Amino acid sequence: MAAAGALAIVLVALIASTVADSSPDAVALQALRSGLQDPDGALKNWDPDLVDPCTWFHITCDDNLRVTRIDLGSSNLSGPLSPELAKLDQLQYMEFWGNNIQGTIPEEFGDLKNLISLDLYNNSISGRIPASLGNLSNLKFLRLDHNRLTGPIPRELAGLFQIVVMDLSNNDLSGTIPTTRVFQNIPPGCFANNPRLRGPGQQQGGGTDC
Ligand SMILES: *[C@@H]1O[C@H](CO)[C@@H](O)[C@H](O)[C@H]1NC(C)=O
Ligand SMILES: *[C@@H]1O[C@H](CO)[C@@H](O)[C@H](O)[C@H]1NC(C)=O
Ligand SMILES: *[C@@H]1O[C@H](CO)[C@@H](O)[C@H](O)[C@H]1NC(C)=O
Repeated sequence: MAAAGALAIVLVALIASTVADSSPDAVALQALRSGLQDPDGALKNWDPDLVDPCTWFHITCDDNLRVTRIDLGSSNLSGPLSPELAKLDQLQYMEFWGNNIQGTIPEEFGDLKNLISLDLYNNSISGRIPASLGNLSNLKFLRLDHNRLTGPIPRELAGLFQIVVMDLSNNDLSGTIPTTRVFQNIPPGCFANNPRLRGPGQQQGGGTDC
């Protein structure tokens, strides 16, 4: 009895320590997972008992076991993006294109200072583009096209000096297209098919290439 009791205590302690030691990155990814429907099992090996998430499918880490990439394009996922993802402060690539992601883009994503690519195109994302994304000073690819985004294009995005592609086409954005700073170099097609959006190239049918 005593031996069994001791064993039980050791087991409980082991389990408790494993859970307690989950890295903040693992905790943030589990918060994402808990809100998503995943009929194809893309997240099925996301074992919450592992200390770090570096062996999970679709996750890439650096040498310090910090998450640098989430590659979940075309994975048949539905549901919202958790604001907890903003705690992945080494994240460079967030790829969720071609799913059925719903809800809004969390304002907290403006904290992802190392982000190079935010690819959320081809989903069902609604609400406004957060002005906080203007703080992503390393961002090169901002592809939010083919969603249900509404409201204005935040002027703050004009300061994304590393931007290579900013595709906001095929949404329901409104207001006028900013023309300052980086917006001077973005082709009109990157804003196409937003019927309520006004600005250069929109009335004349400025093409749909982005
Ligand atoms: C996505 O999941 C749904 C629900 O299980 C399934 O009916 C559909 O075939 C899946 N689509 C793809 C492209 O795998
Ligand atoms: C995005 O959706 C469009 C139209 O719904 C489709 O033609 C295109 O292949 C999709 N692209 C990706 C990468 O999923
Ligand atoms: C951008 O970052 C600064 C400094 O962290 C913060 O004060 C500001 O509120 C952020 N801007 C937006 C639009 O979130």
